[in-house]
Amino acid sequence: MPHAVENGEETMRDLTEENVTEAVLDKIQGMGDARTKELLGAAIRHAHAFAREVQLTPEELYQAAMFFTEIGKISDERRHEFLLLSDTLGLTILVDAMQNRKPPGATESSVLGPFYRAEAPEVKSGDSIDRGNTGGDPAIVHGTVKDLDGKPIAGAVLDIWQTAQNGFYENMDPDQPDMNLRGRLTSDEDGAYSFVTVLPCSYPIPDDGPVGRLLYASGRHIMRPAHIHFILSAEGFKTVTTEIFAEGDEYLDSDAVFGVKDSLVAEFVKNDSAADAESYGVTAPFHLMRYDFVLEPGEGPAKPSFSAGGSA
Ligand SMILES: [Fe+2]
Repeated sequence: MPHAVENGEETMRDLTEENVTEAVLDKIQGMGDARTKELLGAAIRHAHAFAREVQLTPEELYQAAMFFTEIGKISDERRHEFLLLSDTLGLTILVDAMQNRKPPGATESSVLGPFYRAEAPEVKSGDSIDRGNTGGDPAIVHGTVKDLDGKPIAGAVLDIWQTAQNGFYENMDPDQPDMNLRGRLTSDEDGAYSFVTVLPCSYPIPDDGPVGRLLYASGRHIMRPAHIHFILSAEGFKTVTTEIFAEGDEYLDSDAVFGVKDSLVAEFVKNDSAADAESYGVTAPFHLMRYDFVLEPGEGPAKPSFSAGGSA
């Protein structure tokens, strides 16, 4: 042991690079909350292992401290640079994958991103969530919500949000009306849903902070492929947070936050027919995208209740 007990007090005067990790872990044994102790203990062990593996120098440790200091300085209630770091290093999607293992056929999950806002306005089937006329072709998004046996789920709530054509979510863009391109829709008796929006576009994550610099230094770009965010919830089924991506987007295979899954890619089919457009209450050209969601039985996880801004 790195220390001995003398007069009831531990001494730590003979620490070496071999025994220091054990000495630090010993210091958290009195931590009351078991899960917190497990998390902190693992963080200490992995941080020490990292330092040993790369033979970390004092200068590099200081540089890392400055990097995290910058992350803290640029972060606030709307800008979540720590989450952006987690997203861009694949940690967010790893956690999501571990916590949302799905049976075959069930709609897969993807990153929530930091732009969700709770309490988006309720819309009826066929309504538009485009409240801003900020440009872009109209898009009709429709499909069904069913269970694993193919039985329609009536009353499923689809919580929907996306960017305008300028690549900004409304809460990051003073030129868009409040709650633009957000809505909550309920599936009908046949499990069907439908809404009008604008064609989603690829957009950059913020690059004016330390995470942007890290991506550029790594030879990476900062783009996310075009997508629409969804949270689906229904009584007796597990809530799923996901994104549907536009087939053909040039960034599908290099999403800056690693959110793309094959099963979540769908085609927005362009239609130039004025008559078809009129039947949907939009103007040509428009785009039609169908996606059928499948929920697995169970409870929760609960829907996020925060409203924020940030990266994805
Ligand atoms: Fe997004």
